[in-house]
Amino acid sequence: MIIVQLSDLHVCPPGVLAYGRVPTNDMLREAIEHVNALRPRADVVLATGDLVHAGDAEEYATLRRLLAELEAPVYLVPGNHDDRNNLRQVFADSDYLPDAGDFLHYAVADYPVRLIGLDTVVPGKAGGELCERRLAWLQDALEAATDRPTVVFMHHPPFRTNIDHMDVIGLEGAAPMGRLVARHPQIERILCGHLHRPIQVRWNGTLASTAPSTAHQVVLDLRRGAEGAFALEPPGFQVHVWSRDTGIVSHTAHVGRFDGPHLFVDDGTGGVG
Ligand SMILES: [Fe+2]
Ligand SMILES: [Fe+2]
Repeated sequence: MIIVQLSDLHVCPPGVLAYGRVPTNDMLREAIEHVNALRPRADVVLATGDLVHAGDAEEYATLRRLLAELEAPVYLVPGNHDDRNNLRQVFADSDYLPDAGDFLHYAVADYPVRLIGLDTVVPGKAGGELCERRLAWLQDALEAATDRPTVVFMHHPPFRTNIDHMDVIGLEGAAPMGRLVARHPQIERILCGHLHRPIQVRWNGTLASTAPSTAHQVVLDLRRGAEGAFALEPPGFQVHVWSRDTGIVSHTAHVGRFDGPHLFVDDGTGGVG
């Protein structure tokens, strides 16, 4: 099973640049072309929040048009730039988003790996939260299938990244989530967004990670108190490959035009790679 993770799409109204600078819509179009060109093909695509930039209905309509080009089914969770109501309205015909209730969380059992999408949004805040109600829902979702390999995906990572300006808008409720996760070894991965870079950590008996953005990347600056900044480093997405033998093996793919591919030739220097 191949799970592609797109993150932090930050789709804008047509013709608008995010932060006056980033052509997020064109960049998503290009990322989708790369995903569609993968062989073997992706079975499923997860989009881990900040789907649009300002939460407007017009942006979700644009997002919907862009995502229609994806050849694999896509599952959305919201991030701090999203608006639950507008997201829900524009994707009202989806077969997985809950029609009612306060949160856009759900479990998908149609694949060899069970998928649990979490909604960490707190309206009006950049940081996220797993409140008691959401933790209780997660507990039920995990207990419903303790023997199935499971991926949890969410926008705000539950771990500290050492990128200061992002850590201060991290996730409340991470500690009780960690205790819950530690009791559920079926969790193969916790896949997050928000950081606009790929980061991995061992966390409560599983691996937790973030993904690059399909648009702008957060600058790698680990100094205490460093100011928040982004750069147009190569955008990308994650490719999580699951098999019964290996569990999940995760790759980072970059989107763009680069020199190559060039076939390796044996030039007597120690083989290929
Ligand atoms: Fe973002
Ligand atoms: Fe975010």
